[in-house]
Amino acid sequence: MPALSNLILLALPFVALGAPPRRHEHIQPRATYKLKDHYTGKDFLEWDFFSAPDPTHGTVNYLSKSEAQAKGLAYVQKDGTTVLAVDNKTTLKPGQNRDSVRISSPKSYSTGLFIADFFAMPHGPSVWPAYWTVGPNWPTGGEVDILEGVGDSTTNQMTLHTSAGCSLDTKLATSFTGSHTSTTNCKSGDGSNDGCGITDAQPHAYGHEFNIIAGGVFAHLVTSSGIKIWRFPRTAIPADITDGKPNPASWGKPAAFFSSGTCNIAEHFKDQVITINTSICGDWAGNAFPGGPSACAAAAADPQNFEHAQWMLNYVSVYES
Ligand SMILES: *[C@@H]1O[C@H](CO)[C@@H](O)[C@H](O)[C@H]1NC(C)=O
Ligand SMILES: *[C@@H]1O[C@H](CO)[C@@H](O)[C@H](O)[C@H]1NC(C)=O
Repeated sequence: MPALSNLILLALPFVALGAPPRRHEHIQPRATYKLKDHYTGKDFLEWDFFSAPDPTHGTVNYLSKSEAQAKGLAYVQKDGTTVLAVDNKTTLKPGQNRDSVRISSPKSYSTGLFIADFFAMPHGPSVWPAYWTVGPNWPTGGEVDILEGVGDSTTNQMTLHTSAGCSLDTKLATSFTGSHTSTTNCKSGDGSNDGCGITDAQPHAYGHEFNIIAGGVFAHLVTSSGIKIWRFPRTAIPADITDGKPNPASWGKPAAFFSSGTCNIAEHFKDQVITINTSICGDWAGNAFPGGPSACAAAAADPQNFEHAQWMLNYVSVYES
């Protein structure tokens, strides 16, 4: 009876339609994020160029916008990629600082979803690069380090720096893929500036390993319930990011999660500017250098150590829900 069985088959979808849409029941309602700001190409050359002495005591001379452009350390390539570089030509005399660049976004943000696409990041002996956000009156306005490390590290250190009263909840360690390595107290200042950190030691997290696959995307979400950081290698960037419709609920475990359970995010993180810098030696890279600060200073003097000390930026986008 072919006719009857066809009828039954045809009827099935209609029966299913009458029932609640089970397939979607367990999927979290999707917050939608609206693009607020998108920075790419020449936009980065409109950011604020910080040219005061390095607060972290690096052997570095941060250039003004006009100096950085005149010296070829901040420019846009023909393909639209923005390059932020360290001087790799000059042999330094003792006590001399090496030219570098530190830029900050013209706007500040207290919450949001931040997506940064980098083709390459600086690395090499004595080099200390960071992609981070920072609020006013450090550490009161808070600092989120999304990408940071020193020298030829293969791991990325994601860290919060705050005033007193914020800590990392290690009981939540299974909810992120990184590993907690430093102090759990995020309080910084008065000479103890470690903050609370989570290390991403997965392949391609940092430096040379990051660059050989043409980098990737860092996404971080700041809400009143916490701060989450994801990293996606170039080959695994979610389509919703590429399509400009980011959906963090679909991204799986973040590399780092700092919960509001042990840190009042709204209180500790305010008016953050997005910052990209490359320091040399200084408080972290100098002390971590094999042989210590004086060996680091010697390395800083040699231009050959800065062959790979360049950022290649695709874009930074800021979304709000
Ligand atoms: C560079 O970046 C790191 C990010 O953690 C920051 O601690 C340091 O102050 C910065 N150095 C400067 C002032 O450029
Ligand atoms: C020096 O830095 C520039 C970027 O300013 C880069 O294009 C070049 O490859 C570097 N060269 C060497 C030899 O390190």
